[in-house]
Amino acid sequence: MANLGSSSRDGFSSKFGVIAAAAGSAIGLGNIWRFPYVLGESGGGAFLLLYLFFIIAFGVPVMTSELLIGRKAQKNVFGAFKSLAPGKPWFLVGTMGVLAAFLILSFYSVVAGWTIEYVYLAVKGSLSGSPDEINMIFEEFKASQFWPYFWTIVFLILTALIIVGGVKNGIEKYTKILMPLLFILIIVLDVKALLLPGAGKGIEFLFKPDFSKINGEVILAAMGQAFFSLSIGMGVIATYGSYIPKSQNLGKTALSVSLTDTLIAVLAGVAIFPAVYAFGMAPEQGEGLVFKVLPNIFNQMTGGYVFSVMFFVLLTIAALTSSISLLEVIVAYLSEEYGMKRSYAIWATTLVVSVLAMLCVYSVKVFGSFDFISSNVLLPLGGVLIVLFVGYVMKKSEVRAELEAHGKKVVYFDIFYFIVRYIAPVAIMFVFLNGVGVINFG
Ligand code: TRP
Repeated sequence: MANLGSSSRDGFSSKFGVIAAAAGSAIGLGNIWRFPYVLGESGGGAFLLLYLFFIIAFGVPVMTSELLIGRKAQKNVFGAFKSLAPGKPWFLVGTMGVLAAFLILSFYSVVAGWTIEYVYLAVKGSLSGSPDEINMIFEEFKASQFWPYFWTIVFLILTALIIVGGVKNGIEKYTKILMPLLFILIIVLDVKALLLPGAGKGIEFLFKPDFSKINGEVILAAMGQAFFSLSIGMGVIATYGSYIPKSQNLGKTALSVSLTDTLIAVLAGVAIFPAVYAFGMAPEQGEGLVFKVLPNIFNQMTGGYVFSVMFFVLLTIAALTSSISLLEVIVAYLSEEYGMKRSYAIWATTLVVSVLAMLCVYSVKVFGSFDFISSNVLLPLGGVLIVLFVGYVMKKSEVRAELEAHGKKVVYFDIFYFIVRYIAPVAIMFVFLNGVGVINFG
């Protein structure tokens, strides 16, 4: 997203371009790494139901709200709040988003670093052996005093280099070809996983809700996962919205990005859980889950070598299209609010994030709390503020006009407006307070 700060706004070359870029931000490690591991730790099917509910009930409305704020203002998130509500502190949503971006980028690069290590291991052909040996590969790598740090830095530098390159050649070009390819690979993995002996138990774990597993923490985790996976609640999507032409239907865009993102997460689950059971593993492996499970499937596939290399390469690229959206938030903030030179802002941010990321490699506690604070605290709070802004600060007529700017009446307006004004703010706050134990409804 180059030239964010300049007067001639650099747009996307095609309608598909923006959707691809927004989807590129949404689809990433959140779908393939985070979703299965959090679901595995949260008891399976009941978590999935909650997650789907949050995507539809809050995810789509919050994403629509972000898109409409950005497109209405024709500015990135800070400028947007400043110009739509001059003199009021709404831009703090953007500031909170910047904080969240720092935290997310820090632990995200660590996991992306693991992914690069797995590219390397896949190329070397060393992802073979029994499930126990595969397990050890991950544990030994994580215990190393060098490689996890090294790959994290490599990933951050790659992210920075792409941002230096700018919007069209940076984001759009890769996303359009590579994400569909990743999708196809996941489908291949699904088919293979479903054919494994004992796959049924995994499918049951994923799709059969066990309601006794639900508690306040699980509900909050499902909501946090929905926000994280959709990249909402911190203004990234508002910035993309500012590039969407008026001729495009925003509600439809939000819905298609959300559904694509959700489909990929669920399909990743369909690949992983049958394999978990088929290879005699447990779903609550924690953050190493995907890395411990998938190599076992590749090992059983004809052409597994090629598939594994391709898969980890594509996953790294998916992580990059997400991390660039995170870095861009920070860089836009520094360059537009403080007049910092973009290249300086990019490298200074990369340096700071590198230090934070090193702390995440060093300590699982830091890693876990960065993840928790961003996904389960900052994003939901950002989401609440965003819907409150659309519901109470903007005029109803303005909101409607923006959603109908493509020239057709939208049938969902009343329900959207109702959710944004009354349901989402209350419900998100409730889930949040209940999940962190401030109020207690179990
Ligand atoms: N949604 C991305 C994923 O699933 C991660 C991400 C990118 C993100 N940008 C974000 C999360 C902004 C929250 C906010 O991998």
